[in-house]
Amino acid sequence: MIDNTLKILTGSKGTGLLYLVIVFVFFFFLLTRPIVRYLKTLSDGLMSIASGNLDCRVPITSQDELGVIAQNINYMAEQLQLMMQRERQIEISKMELITNVSHDLRTPLTSMIGYLNLMKNDDYQNLEEHKRYVNNTFNKTQQLKKLIDDLFEYTRLTSGAAQLSFRRVDLSGLLEQIMMEFEPIAHEHALKIEKLWEFKQVYGMVDVEKFVRTIDNLLMNALKFSFKPGEIVIMLAEEKDHIYIAVENQGEPISREQELRLFERFYKAEPSRNDYFNSQGSGLGLSIAQNIIELHGGQMGLEYREGWFKFFIKLPRLGNFQVGEWRGKTAQG
Ligand SMILES: Nc1ncnc2c1ncn2[C@@H]1O[C@H](COP(=O)(O)OP(=O)(O)OP(=O)(O)O)[C@@H](O)[C@H]1O
Ligand SMILES: [Mg+2]
Repeated sequence: MIDNTLKILTGSKGTGLLYLVIVFVFFFFLLTRPIVRYLKTLSDGLMSIASGNLDCRVPITSQDELGVIAQNINYMAEQLQLMMQRERQIEISKMELITNVSHDLRTPLTSMIGYLNLMKNDDYQNLEEHKRYVNNTFNKTQQLKKLIDDLFEYTRLTSGAAQLSFRRVDLSGLLEQIMMEFEPIAHEHALKIEKLWEFKQVYGMVDVEKFVRTIDNLLMNALKFSFKPGEIVIMLAEEKDHIYIAVENQGEPISREQELRLFERFYKAEPSRNDYFNSQGSGLGLSIAQNIIELHGGQMGLEYREGWFKFFIKLPRLGNFQVGEWRGKTAQG
């Protein structure tokens, strides 16, 4: 068989055929060389990405199947890069949380140790002073408890572990109830309350306990940070796309940078103010409130203008509310 083939190739007819084979092989290599070279480039690119160089991108030189493979390789590298960035961000965020928590736990604890030490060594002038030390220590334990409770709530909300139970509720009636308890406290602090809402029923789907906590948070902030004497305006309106609730007051002016950071966890715009009321805060209130509203499928924000703070909430109207909007959603950490 092989002998026959050799005979044909070496015969006169065979010489032509031999040339044909040589020409074919020559052109075959000539045409497939760029493809082989490109495959080598893709393979090198993949190896580089696999070894951790996520900035690496392979060149896309055609729109054929190989071009599609190259596009997919680049897409994969981009996605991996995004995933790594997200993980790094979560890691940084966790470290920040630990640093803030350690700092905020240490501050009241240090002063508790200080007072207890004074009392342990009978280092006080009279019973009056002793009582003051006991009171201060007690206040610090309260502050510590609030911080731990808030932290617990915050981590539950942001880890997606919080189970909200939604009910159809008349928000107008609920706000009215909250205001009844709040008004006397506000008056004690020389703050007038103005309610801007039509007294008709406005139904929304809320987790009552969490919603009340959010409103309480806003009202307590208004109480703490308002100029006194002053006024707090509470608004409720049913708009086309959503239910609008807002709490407005006037307080110490803040810069644009502070305005943008108010909803960050642990952020306080006025750390220099250290009267009793303000020093109690951990700066978690607004982050917790915002997470709760987002888990309701709503939005929470601040409209700020020259010392006037308007914290607003937009909740989906009854017809627009979908449990699916919040289920499984985790808020930003
Ligand atoms: N109604 C308001 N008027 C003026 N400033 C406000 C108001 N609400 C919040 N702020 C500013 O935003 C900061 C963050 O508020 P946030 O409720 O998160 O923390 P906090 O009240 O200081 O502490 P916490 O709520 O954890 O007890 C406050 O420290 C304050 O500087
Ligand atoms: Mg607060």
